[in-house]
Amino acid sequence: MKKKKREENPFEKKIVANEWVKIVEDTVHGGWRKKDVYPRLFKWSRQFKNKIIVEIGSGQGVCSSKINFRQNKYIGIEPSRWLLARARALYGHKRRKFLGGDAYSLPLRSKSADAAFSINVWFHLKNIKKACSELRRILKPLGEFYIITANPGAYEVWESFFTRYQKKGKMLSGEFYHPVSNLSLNIFYFHSLSDIVGAFEKNDLIIIDIETFSVMKKDTTHRCYVGIKGYAK
Ligand SMILES: C[S@@+](CC[C@H](N)C(=O)[O-])C[C@H]1O[C@@H](n2cnc3c(N)ncnc32)[C@H](O)[C@@H]1O
Repeated sequence: MKKKKREENPFEKKIVANEWVKIVEDTVHGGWRKKDVYPRLFKWSRQFKNKIIVEIGSGQGVCSSKINFRQNKYIGIEPSRWLLARARALYGHKRRKFLGGDAYSLPLRSKSADAAFSINVWFHLKNIKKACSELRRILKPLGEFYIITANPGAYEVWESFFTRYQKKGKMLSGEFYHPVSNLSLNIFYFHSLSDIVGAFEKNDLIIIDIETFSVMKKDTTHRCYVGIKGYAK
């Protein structure tokens, strides 16, 4: 039988992984999420004590330092071996571990996590239903989740960051502008809000809050992110 081709993840290429590392670790521009994403993540994580918190798509590991990991155990899951190595080198700690793995097949036992979060990953996934089903599988009953992704109401702003690119249905693929370093390849899936919400609901993931936030390009009408919080039934 023919093996199904894995979805392309540009961050598994060494060149793109290095571009991403350069962006996140840049001393001037690397802090672009300091005012919006990181404080929200910290606030959400403050409710947990002695819990296991999982991050899906942990990249080079920065978000592991933005939660109260000292009172909890953190596990970051990341498919790019380049980013995984960087995360281990920068953030490895006895309470923080990083594992190779994919949102579609998390290397964790069912009902083993008290909480899970994911930042800037859901828009890279073609099959958000499958990712939600994995999220549901690893969460304990009443386990909490927090997913921050691109706000569908601001896709035109996200699209404006693509320079040379192709658009096929929901998928955009091409070069992505950033003042520190362009990403030579980025892939986005422009899922509708109802598809995003539906993927959680179909998997018994109960949404308790949806918030749009963060303004890019000095445009106050576009809130670029959407944060979705909830728990597993
Ligand atoms: C823009 S980076 C964000 C990294 C990190 N979450 C952060 O906010 O710093 C996107 C990340 O999504 C990861 N990713 C892409 N496809 C994935 C998949 N199928 N499963 C898990 N992670 C994936 C990439 O490898 C990359 O680390």
